[in-house]
Amino acid sequence: MNKQHTQAEWAERARAVLPAGGFGNFDPSIVIREGRGSRVWDEDGKEYVDYLIGSGPMLLGHGHPEVLDAVFEQLPKGQTFFANNVLGIELAEEICRAVPCAEQLRYVSSGGEADMYAMRLARAFTGRDKIVKFEGGYHGMSAEAQMSLAPSRRENFPQAVPDSAGIPQSVADEMLIAPFNDFDYIRSLLAEYEGQIAGLIVEPLQRIIPPAPGFLELLREECTRYGIVLIFDEVVTGFRFAYGGAQEHYFVTPDLCTLGKVIGGGFPLAATVGRADIMGHFDKAAVGEEGWLMQLGTLSGNPVAAAAGLKSLEILRRDGQYARLRELGDRVGGMIRDALEPTGIPYRIVGDATLFEVVFTAQDARDYRAVQAADAGRAKLWNDALRHHGIFKSPGKTYPSLALTEDDLAVTLEAIQSAAAAIEAKA
Ligand SMILES: Cc1ncc(COP(=O)(O)O)c(C=O)c1O
Repeated sequence: MNKQHTQAEWAERARAVLPAGGFGNFDPSIVIREGRGSRVWDEDGKEYVDYLIGSGPMLLGHGHPEVLDAVFEQLPKGQTFFANNVLGIELAEEICRAVPCAEQLRYVSSGGEADMYAMRLARAFTGRDKIVKFEGGYHGMSAEAQMSLAPSRRENFPQAVPDSAGIPQSVADEMLIAPFNDFDYIRSLLAEYEGQIAGLIVEPLQRIIPPAPGFLELLREECTRYGIVLIFDEVVTGFRFAYGGAQEHYFVTPDLCTLGKVIGGGFPLAATVGRADIMGHFDKAAVGEEGWLMQLGTLSGNPVAAAAGLKSLEILRRDGQYARLRELGDRVGGMIRDALEPTGIPYRIVGDATLFEVVFTAQDARDYRAVQAADAGRAKLWNDALRHHGIFKSPGKTYPSLALTEDDLAVTLEAIQSAAAAIEAKA
């Protein structure tokens, strides 16, 4: 019989073949063996309540039986075709019904690609080059998106700072960076660069930071005034904040949006979505050679992912799902408040009931710099204690899922109380 490897042994094997020992930026010392419902287990058999949920997609929990049935029905009929397939067409129809800005869509395999094409579409549609993004806003890994994502160096706005090696200066020169939630700054930036800006890309809730009241409305108005394509990155918020995403929740409709995570039901699927006149730039017959934006991908519209996505959306349409998700998030938020309030330690719960984080700060977390200035040492203690007490989450976000049970909430409560005690002991 094969010897069972420990998690530490797997982590060591990973270090030999994976740079930095991992698939991305998540702690590579943990290796997940299995996920079921609201829980995951690591390779040492430790069980956790999962508030990472695959970094967002597993809103219904791992292995939802109806989603698995839909996948199992498709699998024997074929894994991928490149050609159109009915499930991909039906999913596109459902997204266009659900999402306010969606008249047409193009599939890709990841949210970052969807964002890259949204920015390129804005350029093709307007014939302009500059893109505005907000400091700290995350839009995947394209050269444009890597500008001022997590800068440690503070440049004066609107100077872009690349967060990655390998990006030419010419890309930085076409990006304009603004502070999130700063009404005056964005007004004057868009006026100053009138006629040069193709698109403005924004996470309606930036990482965890909510838009100040009126901020998204201001972006909508100003983009309309200057003929700028307004892009909402709804890779996280799509089908999470509401069935129609953050644009439904906040009542502001962009020109384009990007979707990922939930629409693939745990499989690689994302989309660039929006107004038909802008999306028309993907159609050479509609716009001619000059205006055409070439776009294709081997796995685009993959039928297995589309089957999982379609079934996930069907489940999310059922009565009460979003009310329940918000109630679950509010309950966890309430536990955090009850545990931290008596300690007197300054903190804010920043975000939305469907996605939030505790930030150890006495200030309002209105933008990237405010969140960055928070107490990182306390955040680490908090996250380490939660992990130790059976909570699996990313260091920067807590994602409630619809699979959470009363038992999970009981585990969560104990973990939160222990984490608050750990922080108080070091205060
Ligand atoms: C707001 C936002 N946009 C884009 C992306 C990139 O999506 P993907 O990881 O599927 O490329 C993410 C990923 O977390 C995201 O949070």
